[in-house]
Amino acid sequence: MGLPTDLFEPKYYANVRRPVEDAETLPPWAYAGKEFYARETERIFNKTWNFVGHAARIPNVGDYTTLDYAGASLILVRDREGRPRAYANSCRHRGAAIAEGSGNCRAFKCPYHHWIYGLDGALTGAPEMEHTPGFTKSDHGLIEVKLELFGQLMFVNFDPNSVSLAQYLGDLPQLLAPYALDELKLVRRTEYEVACNWKVYVENFMDYYHTPTVHQKSLAAGNLSVYHRNPPTAERGKGEYMALYAKHEGSAALLPGAKGFPPMPKLSGRAKDGSTYVCLFPCTLMAQTKDCTWHVEIHPLGPDRIKLAVGGCFHPETIARPDFAETLENYYKRWDISVIEDNEINEIQQKGVSSPLAKAGRVSNFEALSHIHRNWVLDRVIGNKA
Ligand code: FES
Ligand SMILES: [Fe+2]
Repeated sequence: MGLPTDLFEPKYYANVRRPVEDAETLPPWAYAGKEFYARETERIFNKTWNFVGHAARIPNVGDYTTLDYAGASLILVRDREGRPRAYANSCRHRGAAIAEGSGNCRAFKCPYHHWIYGLDGALTGAPEMEHTPGFTKSDHGLIEVKLELFGQLMFVNFDPNSVSLAQYLGDLPQLLAPYALDELKLVRRTEYEVACNWKVYVENFMDYYHTPTVHQKSLAAGNLSVYHRNPPTAERGKGEYMALYAKHEGSAALLPGAKGFPPMPKLSGRAKDGSTYVCLFPCTLMAQTKDCTWHVEIHPLGPDRIKLAVGGCFHPETIARPDFAETLENYYKRWDISVIEDNEINEIQQKGVSSPLAKAGRVSNFEALSHIHRNWVLDRVIGNKA
């Protein structure tokens, strides 16, 4: 019982490194301990591309929102050129947070001594600072964080020397090309706080072993053996992602028997016959089905807490339908029920895995993707991959 003092020795993770048939999960402290989380923050969240939502979160010039991501408070704002930008939410004077919540502004005024920053981050006002020798406003703009877009999805990176988002994605844009993500509109975004480790959430999203059990009364109602008849394919992508493709009738975004929309225009290839689920490492989750897409932002808040946001997107032709608002309720119902079912089971797992008596477990052959994810994490936390 208790944590070993040499926590990051590879010997504690050897069983995770085995082929999936022989593998175990990560040790419990990797899901519940602050030491492991601190190492993940340093080696993963501070170095990779982190998903902070659809650009429609800040649709107009001057729209801003704030968020906490792995210990960093950030402002996202649309600048005068219409470009989404990210800044550290920290005044260059004595560090106060300069924005709170969401809104629209022409400039940010620090609540402490009223230094003022433009939407481009430039310091434009600093009362009385003309008497401070050698102080130049142009040296004290907001600290900018790299923000790049995949379609309309915003990603930030805290590492100025990181690879570009395009390099990080690899061939993911080609894999998702049939869904024309650029054309889709964000229709709704809902937020939750969930008392679980970020990896607990990712593993659940990419795990179809739990669908007939956790979603027994909703997604899998009357259809318990669906995955045994049509086993999904699991792929490690040629980019920093993994993907699951599942062939099925109808839409994956509806409860069984619910009325929905026709498939999106321009779907081609296997996209017409099923759904593609993606985890862009470390924790960007994307689901693409025939009539819509949805994505999940996971903002790590600590070893055992995340902010979760779920965004649903539809094609403009679907949105233009006269029955859009009415039929949309069926999609909301499916998302609301399944997200709560997943949130609850993830909190239940977190509770058990946080016990000092908990041990690593064996896994089924339905969990190939969770296994890939655990090894991706270990490559960075224990191994030498930057
Ligand atoms: S801390 Fe912002 S103006 Fe002083
Ligand atoms: Fe689920």
